[in-house]
Amino acid sequence: MLFPTMKYLTRKWIKPEDLNPNGSLFGGSLLKWIDEEAAIYTITMLQSPYVVTKLMSEINFVSSARAGDVLEMGMKVVKLGRSSITLKCEVRNIMTHHTIIKIDQIVFVNLDSSGLPTPHGKTMANFEEDE
Ligand SMILES: CC(C)(COP(=O)(O)OP(=O)(O)OC[C@H]1O[C@@H](n2cnc3c(N)ncnc32)[C@H](O)[C@@H]1OP(=O)(O)O)[C@@H](O)C(=O)NCCC(=O)NCCS
Repeated sequence: MLFPTMKYLTRKWIKPEDLNPNGSLFGGSLLKWIDEEAAIYTITMLQSPYVVTKLMSEINFVSSARAGDVLEMGMKVVKLGRSSITLKCEVRNIMTHHTIIKIDQIVFVNLDSSGLPTPHGKTMANFEEDE
């Protein structure tokens, strides 16, 4: 059984306020966009609004981006636990397809109304149905 393939759902147009003092994309801006995109992806996949970011693995800033570039943010489910879900992320330049950043693991945990981990009840079969 296969998890869904990498989905590039959201695009970002890099503006002057997204840059660092060297004139290239500020990594903090990119990580903020990724965390939000990954959270929305998780909420949608788990059909649960109460999720938190638990862990991000090694972050590889592969190449830089500049004002005017358009990026697309890719997410893919790589693991499903009891309360957790692990995503892989890749952001690339929409025109050149050059990779800007890669994160192998972003772990989200599904929470109950008390803020404790609770089973999300999703299986690989659910995701195949969605595909
Ligand atoms: C998320 C949180 C409730 C988890 O608490 P916890 O005590 O680690 O909970 P558990 O040990 O029961 O683990 C819950 C799940 O997270 C996974 N997990 C915990 N630590 C992990 C780690 N370091 N790496 C990967 N997965 C991890 C566990 O494997 C478990 O997954 P499973 O249910 O699918 O098997 C708690 O750490 C927390 O509130 N963190 C702050 C989150 C936050 O504020 N994020 C930023 C803003 S969104």
